[in-house]
Amino acid sequence: MRETWNSKAGFIIAAIGSAVGLGNLWRFPYIAASNGGGAFIFPYLFAIITAGIPILILEYTMGKTYRSGAPGCFARISRRFEWLGWLQVMTAFLIAIYYSAIVVWVLSYLGFSFGTQWGTETGDFFYAYLGITDSITQLGGLKTNLILPFFIVWALVAIIMYRGINKGINLACKICMPILATCVVIIVIRGITLPGAIDGIAYMFTPDWSAIAHTDVWVAAYGQVFFSLSIAFGIMLSYSSYLPKEEDVVNTAFLTACTNHGFELFAGIGIFSIIGYMAGAQGVDVSEVATAGVGLAFVVFPTAINALPAFNTLFGILFFLSLFTAAITSMISIIQAIIPGIEDKWEMSHKKATTIVLIPIFVLSFLFITGAGLYILDLADYIANNIGIVFGGVTEVFIIGWLFKPEKLRLEANRYSNFAVGKWWNYALKIVTFVVLGYTMILNLITYFKDGYEGYPLWIGCLFLLMIVAGAVVLTAIRGKDGYYVKPDDAPGWDD
Ligand code: ALA
Repeated sequence: MRETWNSKAGFIIAAIGSAVGLGNLWRFPYIAASNGGGAFIFPYLFAIITAGIPILILEYTMGKTYRSGAPGCFARISRRFEWLGWLQVMTAFLIAIYYSAIVVWVLSYLGFSFGTQWGTETGDFFYAYLGITDSITQLGGLKTNLILPFFIVWALVAIIMYRGINKGINLACKICMPILATCVVIIVIRGITLPGAIDGIAYMFTPDWSAIAHTDVWVAAYGQVFFSLSIAFGIMLSYSSYLPKEEDVVNTAFLTACTNHGFELFAGIGIFSIIGYMAGAQGVDVSEVATAGVGLAFVVFPTAINALPAFNTLFGILFFLSLFTAAITSMISIIQAIIPGIEDKWEMSHKKATTIVLIPIFVLSFLFITGAGLYILDLADYIANNIGIVFGGVTEVFIIGWLFKPEKLRLEANRYSNFAVGKWWNYALKIVTFVVLGYTMILNLITYFKDGYEGYPLWIGCLFLLMIVAGAVVLTAIRGKDGYYVKPDDAPGWDD
C-alpha cells in the first residue's frame, strides 16, 4: 500500500526541505558571483517565473494525478515515454552519489568549527583534509579521516529512508527546517550589522546590465533554478505522488518557489555581508575573495569566520549546522526520487526498494572519499546539472507541451485549485521554457564535447553520461507488473 502524506503541511515542509539545500547556501552565492552578481539576478528571476514555477506546477500535478514517481508518471501518460522518467531518475542517482560527499565534508566541518580548527591557512587545511591528489585519475586510496563522517551520514540517511514518507522524511524535515531557519536568521543579522557588509551586498546586487547579453549567464540562471527547486530530476514528481488527488497544488507550487528563492536570496545577503566584511578587514576587493566553486563554503567562509570580532566558534557551528540540516533534507529527497520507480514498477515493499536503491549509491560514493573526490565531484556536478537536468527538463516540456498537450494537465490542476492557472502556463512551458532550455542544452553539449570541462579527460564525463543512459535503457526494458502501466481512471490519457 502506497503511503500518503499525513497532512498538506507535511508535504509542504518536505518539498521546501528538498528545495532548500546546498543549492541555496553553497551553490547560489558562487554562481551569482561568478555570473556578474547583480546581472545574474534578472535572468534568475526570469527563469523562476518562466520555467521554475510552471514546471513545479506541472510536476506537482503530474505526480498527484498519475500517482507514481517519474518513470511511472511518464509510463502512465504513454509507455513510449517511460524512458524519460528513468533518465531523470538516473540523473538523481548521479547527484545522490556526489551530494552525499558534500554532506560528509559539511559534517566534518561542523566538528572543525569547535575552536575553528581550520586555522588561518584555510585553503591548505581543506586540501589536506581531503588528501587531494594531483589529478582526477589518481584516486590515492581511501582517506581514513573521512570514513567516520561518511558512515554517520549514510547511517542517518538509511534510517530516515527506511522509516518512509511520514515517519522518516517528514519527521526529518520537521526537525531540520526550524534549526536551519534559526541558524540562517542569526547569521544574516550578524552579517548585515558588520562593517563592510554593504560592499558584499552591493557586489551581489549591483546590476551589470552588459552581462545580460551573455548567454552563459542565462544558462547558469536556468541551471540554478532547476537544481534549487529540485525539478526535472524526479524529486517533485515523486513527492507529489504521495498526495491525495484533491490537493490544491497550484498555491503549493507558488509557496514552495517563493520560500525557496526568498530563502536563497536572504541567506545570500548574510553570506555576502560576511564576505564584504572580511574583504574590508583584509583591505581587498570583494570580487577577490568571492572565489568560485566549492571553496566558497569550505575555504572562504572559514576565513570569514576567523575574521569575525567575536563568537567565531559559534558562527562556525551555525554556518555548518545550517548547511548540514539543509543538505540532509535535500539528500533524502534525491534518493526518494528514485525509490518509487522501483517500488511501483515491480510492486515491492518500500523497504526492499530502498535497499535496492541505497546499496549502489552507497558503494559508488566511496569514490568521493578518495583523494580524487573533489575532482570527481566537480565533474559529476557539471554533467548532472548542465546535461542531465537540462535534458530531463527540455524533454519533459517537449513531451507534455508539444505532444501530450499541457491544456489537459492545466484543467486537471485547476479542478482542485483555488487559484486558477491561466493559459499563459501552456505557453510558458511549450514556448519560453522549451526554447531557452533547448538552446541551453545544445550550447552545453557543444561546449562539453568541444572544450571538455576544467581539463578533465572527456571520457570520464562520457562515463557518467553512459551510466545515466545505460541505466535508463535497462530499467525501461525490464518489464514491470501490469498495474504499473495503467493510469488511474480519472487521470487524463493520451487520446483524451
Ligand atoms: N534542491 C536541492 C538543493 O538546492 C537539490 O540543494
